[in-house]
Amino acid sequence: MGFLVVKPTRVFCVYLACFLVTMLSLVSNGSCHAKLSSTFYDKACPNALSTIQSAVRTAISRERRMAGSLIRLHFHDCFVQGCDGSLLLEDTSSFTGERGAFQNSGSVRGFEVVDEVKSRVENVCPGVVSCADILAVAARDASVAVGGPTWKVKLGRRDSRTASKSQAESNIPRASDDLSVLISLFKRKGLNAKEMVALSGSHTIGQAQCITFRNRIYNETDIDAGFASTRRRGCPSNGGDANLAPIDLVTPNSFDNNYYKNLIKRKGLLKTDQVLFSGSSTNNFVTKYSNDQAAFYSDFAAAMVKMGDIDPLTGSSGEIRRRCKSIN
Ligand code: HEM
Ligand SMILES: *[C@@H]1O[C@H](CO)[C@@H](O)[C@H](O)[C@H]1NC(C)=O
Repeated sequence: MGFLVVKPTRVFCVYLACFLVTMLSLVSNGSCHAKLSSTFYDKACPNALSTIQSAVRTAISRERRMAGSLIRLHFHDCFVQGCDGSLLLEDTSSFTGERGAFQNSGSVRGFEVVDEVKSRVENVCPGVVSCADILAVAARDASVAVGGPTWKVKLGRRDSRTASKSQAESNIPRASDDLSVLISLFKRKGLNAKEMVALSGSHTIGQAQCITFRNRIYNETDIDAGFASTRRRGCPSNGGDANLAPIDLVTPNSFDNNYYKNLIKRKGLLKTDQVLFSGSSTNNFVTKYSNDQAAFYSDFAAAMVKMGDIDPLTGSSGEIRRRCKSIN
């Protein structure tokens, strides 16, 4: 009988509990926590997206590699304190920023392009569009500009007022990391092994410096012999640390799935690329994406949206920087 007849007071209690839980979750997310939304600037700055897109296209037509450099900026921003533009801040007297971190120094690039995009956006709507959102939109536009997938970028991130070199060094993966470290660094950001493999597919474009792959081409055994000897020619065992090689040896300027095909032939340039195929928790995704570019595109796009959702500042947190390299 107790199963069938629910007393009115109990029903009321259930509603009340539900209401309280909802209120609590709103509060714990921060007061007035706004979720990111693709329509965030529709009223406040209707030309924001077209302005960013045309500036990004101009930069990439000037230098094709810039597409990769811009995608990488968004990644390195999001993995440190969330997608908050922290990477862009120069050092100040109150903090040592992320540009000088081991994984970024002499390596991440494209800051002048971001400054140029930002100044064009400030001309159409001053003080409205964050640097963090500019990085997210630029990454999408860069993918499209070199033949990659598109996606709807969620917007409404605000910019941090601080940055952290030490957090950058402990959160951004390194070319020397092994697979278990890579998996745990991505997991810490809410991204699983499959998403990590899909995101690594952006190594289908862009370049790496000799210092990041020297050990692989001279010392590793899990590498195609002809490929290793070709790469040694441009990367001596001593010196030439900054010499560049394309990460995807087949089509370094197009966003396609050759990156995965290379891994299957043991022609991954970075150790951290090749381990995705040698590891049993990731190799099936490499095989899948090597056979199915459409699956790669859709999983990459979804993973980029998810990466763009890492710990954004919203509501009244942070600020809208006037210039991306310094706080207001
Ligand atoms: C899985 C862990 C990853 C490691 C260890 C890693 C490491 C590296 C390294 C060492 C380089 C070459 C940098 C240089 O020599 O200066 C590089 C380049 C690049 N990375 Fe990654 N990466 C990882 C994941 C990602 C992800 C998730 C993305 C984007 C979603 C990304 C995008 C890029 C791009 C586009 C380049 C070329 C940049 C350019 O040419 O300017 N990487 N990465
Ligand atoms: C090869 O590995 C050895 C032992 O770890 C190391 O000392 C050496 O520097 C490596 N060589 C290159 C070219 O990276």
